Amino acid sequence: MRVTRIVYLNGAWIPEADARISIFDRGFLFADAIYEVTAVIGGKLIEYAGHAARLQRSTEELAMPCPLSPEALLAVHREIVRRNDLQEGLIYLQISRGAADRDFAYPQDAAPTLVLFTQAKAVVDNPKVKTGISVAMQPDLRWARRDIKTVQLLYPSMAKMEAARLGADDAWLVEDGFVTEATSASAHIVTKDGTLVTRQLSQAILHGITRASTLDLARRAGIPVDVRPFTPKEAMDAAEAFITSATSFVLPVTKIDGQPVGSGVPGPVSARLRELYIAEKLASAI
Ligand code: PDD
Repeated sequence: MRVTRIVYLNGAWIPEADARISIFDRGFLFADAIYEVTAVIGGKLIEYAGHAARLQRSTEELAMPCPLSPEALLAVHREIVRRNDLQEGLIYLQISRGAADRDFAYPQDAAPTLVLFTQAKAVVDNPKVKTGISVAMQPDLRWARRDIKTVQLLYPSMAKMEAARLGADDAWLVEDGFVTEATSASAHIVTKDGTLVTRQLSQAILHGITRASTLDLARRAGIPVDVRPFTPKEAMDAAEAFITSATSFVLPVTKIDGQPVGSGVPGPVSARLRELYIAEKLASAI
């Protein structure tokens, strides 16, 4: 039997089935909404500061008011973990511009809608860590401001469905001959000479919080890092490939377009980075 979650909606704590928002909400009508996903391990928040900072950046890019102060937002994160007795999983947070009569121009007086809910999930003991995941290359047909974490996720859903149809777990998206990122994670490879290659930050990709920490850990561990775009062919010829995200941490990719990556099993660099990531982020969880 599934336990009814308590969700947060605009200042109220409500059983999930009773939470309601307007059909005029611009998140629903225009995807005029942003979100964050923060992992929870042992009842504590992983990389909270990074997610909070990116949330603020998203609101600024879209001139969207943030309904809570940074202190209040952290308190709500902690309270939702407590109310749902969440040990391991994630917190999903969404802010939309709120409800207003349908108009392409931003409304002047709408009150933003703030929603948080939890999802229990085995983040550390993910069974895919042992096998790695498979990916299929797909064209990146998303909008051009992927640095803003909006809820416009239909194309990533389509790409993921197409990947599933092809027998893969996820899609890696390709634009102008280079990999941008995965449908909901950052994409990385390790070349045969042991260099971690990852695309530079721009409007073409989300500025992954896990990506930034993983690059930092790699540099501190003496792993060479080359920040540049890479092609699907380079990925297929790589020694290792992996994704990073709040919910996968560092997760190996062992098959691309049906071909094994390297030896076809999770490699040592991604295994080491996952270990370093978990150790450091558990120690600094709040
Ligand atoms: N997705 N790129 C995209 C397109 C993403 O959607 C995500 C995260 C990432 C990784 O970012 P971070 O390391 O900050 O989680 C990269 C979340 C987990 C999601 O949509 O569920």
